[in-house]
Amino acid sequence: MMPSSHNKLQLSQQARAEIDHWLEKYPADKRRSAVIQALMIVQDEHGGWLTNELMDAVGDYLGLPYIAVYEVATFYSMFELEQVGRYKISVCNNISCMLCGGDEVLDHVKRRLGIKVGQTTADRRFTIKAEEECMAACTAAPMMVINGHYYEHLTADKVDAILDGLE
Ligand code: FES
Repeated sequence: MMPSSHNKLQLSQQARAEIDHWLEKYPADKRRSAVIQALMIVQDEHGGWLTNELMDAVGDYLGLPYIAVYEVATFYSMFELEQVGRYKISVCNNISCMLCGGDEVLDHVKRRLGIKVGQTTADRRFTIKAEEECMAACTAAPMMVINGHYYEHLTADKVDAILDGLE
């Protein structure tokens, strides 16, 4: 990301190229349709979270009012508006997962990382996100999601192996 001459943030060339790829899929008067992808691209490039300046830059690039970008970024739980760890962990606590031991899974994750829900480890590797509603993998309960990847049929040992396997 580079500041422009009037101190407004501009998206990086790489981010703009990736967003252009999505824009090609929509009619010219429907640039708004690319806002989710644009925010995901920019968030990934920025270490997993968004600032107001970045959201404004997305608005500028897509020609949208900033409020339209903020509405999307605040609505979807995949967007982070505060700094988070490299790995974002969400443990499902809806009914199927709860009945199959989801609470114990969450307790184990908290104990192992030494943080509570909503907190980030001091080394900024892990954030435990707010507990999630059903993530449509009930038949594989209990489950958790880390950076968009589903991990299913969890036990404490399995959680340890998964966390050990992350860089
Ligand atoms: S209840 Fe956990 S995935 Fe549905």
